[in-house]
Amino acid sequence: MSTAVAAAAGIKRKEAAASTTMTTKKTKGGYDVPWVEKYRPRSLDDVVGNEDTLVRLRAIAEDGNMPNLILCGPPGTGKTTSVHALARQLLGSAYNNGVLELNASDSRGIDVVRNKIKGFAMNKVSLPVGRHKIIILDEADAMTGAAQQALRRTMEIYSNTTRFALACNVSTKIIEPIQSRAAILRYSRLADEQILNRLRYVCEQEEVSYTDDGLQAIIFTAEGDMRNALNNLQATVSGFEHVSTTNVFKVCDQPHPKKVRSIIDRCLKGNTPEAVKAVTELWNTGYSCSDIIGTLFKVAKSYEMPEALKLEYLREIGFAHMKIADGVGTLLQLLGLAARLCQKVEVAGVME
Ligand SMILES: Nc1ncnc2c1ncn2[C@@H]1O[C@H](COP(=O)(O)OP(=O)(O)OP(=O)(O)O)[C@@H](O)[C@H]1O
Ligand SMILES: [Mg+2]
Repeated sequence: MSTAVAAAAGIKRKEAAASTTMTTKKTKGGYDVPWVEKYRPRSLDDVVGNEDTLVRLRAIAEDGNMPNLILCGPPGTGKTTSVHALARQLLGSAYNNGVLELNASDSRGIDVVRNKIKGFAMNKVSLPVGRHKIIILDEADAMTGAAQQALRRTMEIYSNTTRFALACNVSTKIIEPIQSRAAILRYSRLADEQILNRLRYVCEQEEVSYTDDGLQAIIFTAEGDMRNALNNLQATVSGFEHVSTTNVFKVCDQPHPKKVRSIIDRCLKGNTPEAVKAVTELWNTGYSCSDIIGTLFKVAKSYEMPEALKLEYLREIGFAHMKIADGVGTLLQLLGLAARLCQKVEVAGVME
C-alpha cells in the first residue's frame, strides 16, 4: 500500500517536474524535445490525412496479417510514423524484439542484407499469435540496386515469419521485382486544413499565443509538409513567443507574400517601372532568386485573376524558375520576368 502511495507521489512529482520544464521552456524559448518528435503520433488513429492509405493500414492492423508494404510519398507526410505505429499496434509489447529498423543512416549494402537482415529473419522471437516479425527499411530509395536485388529472395524465403515495410520518397527508385512483391501505399502532401488542425492542437498543448493569420503563414511556408510546419511553429515560438504572420516570415526567412503580391498587382496593371522597382527592393533585402521565385509561384497560384492569364503567368514563372534552377540566379532574370508579366497583360488587353 505504502509503495503504491509512494509511486503515486512519484508520478505527481514527475508531473510537477514536467510542468515546470514546460514553463521554463515557454519562458526560455524551448530547450526541450523538438515538437516533431514530441507530437509524433504513436497510433494509426492519430495520423492525419491520406485517408485512403490509412484506412488500409488500419485494416491491416486489425486483421493482423501484414503484407510486404512500400510506403511512398513526399517528406513529412507520416510514412515513418505510420509504419512504426502499425508495427506497434501489431506487435504490442513484442515491438522491441520483433522489429528491425534500418534507415539511410545505417549501412545497408549487400553485406547487411546478407548478414543482418537474413540473421534477423532467421531469429526466433516470441510474438503474439499469428503475427510476423517486421523489418522496416526506412528511406529505402537510398539503398543500392545490388542490396535491393539481394532482398528479393530473402523476402520470399522468410515470408512465413517476416514481413517487410519499405518507406521511400520515390517509388521508382525501388526495383520492380520488389515493387511486385509488395503492396504500394501512396502518401500525398497534407491538405491545409489537416495541418491547421494539428497546429491548433499543438498550440493548445503548448499554450502558445497565436493569431489565425500566423498559422496560415506557417501553412503557406510548409507546403503540405507536417514536419516543416511543426518545426516552423516551434522556431517561431522560441524566437518570438507569439505566432503572427510577420514573426513567421522573419523566422522562416521567406519573402513576405504581401510584398510579392504587390509585385503581381503592379504587373497586372502593366506598370513595368513600378514592378521592376518592387522586385529590386525585394532583391535588395537579401533574398535569393530561388526564394523569390518560389514565393512568386505560390502567390500567383492563389491570386484571383482570369484563368487564361493565370496560366500564362504560371508558365512564365515556371520558365524563369527553370533558368534559375539551372544556375542563372541573377536579378536580371527576375526583372526580365517582371517585364514579361507586365507585357502579358498588355497583350491580353489588346486581345480583349
Ligand atoms: N500525417 C501526419 N499526422 C500527424 N503528424 C505528422 C504526420 N506526418 C508527419 N507528422 C509529423 O512530422 C514528423 C515527421 O513525420 P515522418 O517521420 O512520418 O515523415 P516521413 O513521411 O517519414 O518523411 P521522410 O520522407 O522525410 O522520412 C512526425 O514526427 C510528426 O510529428
Ligand atoms: Mg521517414
